[in-house]
Amino acid sequence: MAKKHHVTTTVNGDECDFLCEPQQTLLDCLRDELMLSGTKEGCATGDCGACTVMVDGVMVCSCLVLGVEVDGANIDTIEGMPRTMNSTAAAPFPGAQRPAMRDLHAGHSDCRPRTARAQSRPDRDRNRYWLAGNLCRCTGYDKIIRSVQAAAKEMRGNA
Ligand code: FES
Repeated sequence: MAKKHHVTTTVNGDECDFLCEPQQTLLDCLRDELMLSGTKEGCATGDCGACTVMVDGVMVCSCLVLGVEVDGANIDTIEGMPRTMNSTAAAPFPGAQRPAMRDLHAGHSDCRPRTARAQSRPDRDRNRYWLAGNLCRCTGYDKIIRSVQAAAKEMRGNA
């Protein structure tokens, strides 16, 4: 049995630590050790984007990162996005995005981490840029893009 490593990190603004096997991915650590199930596993090979999280402000596929690699890092998952994203000028989602996604039938959780990075005044090209690397398996991309734009409009007071 492999020796477990002690990892200390910040997840969604909260300091935390966990034990993980050397080969355990960040995705598995988030889901199995920290019980943050918002990050999904799709392909487990870095192709679908379902496992996207932010590590020190950089978007990564958590299935391709080892848990031991994030020791000392700041991690943002979809669970923390309403708090972390609302605190910046850059993206007020997904708090306002959820009703828009529901209303436009664009509700698939795997895409939210990437669409949540959209700007507060998004245009279609910027939305598509942030959605790149996420393979949608249920809704199709246009509904997601429209929901991001609708949420941004709502956040601006329909201006
Ligand atoms: Fe990580 Fe698909 S599960 S990219």
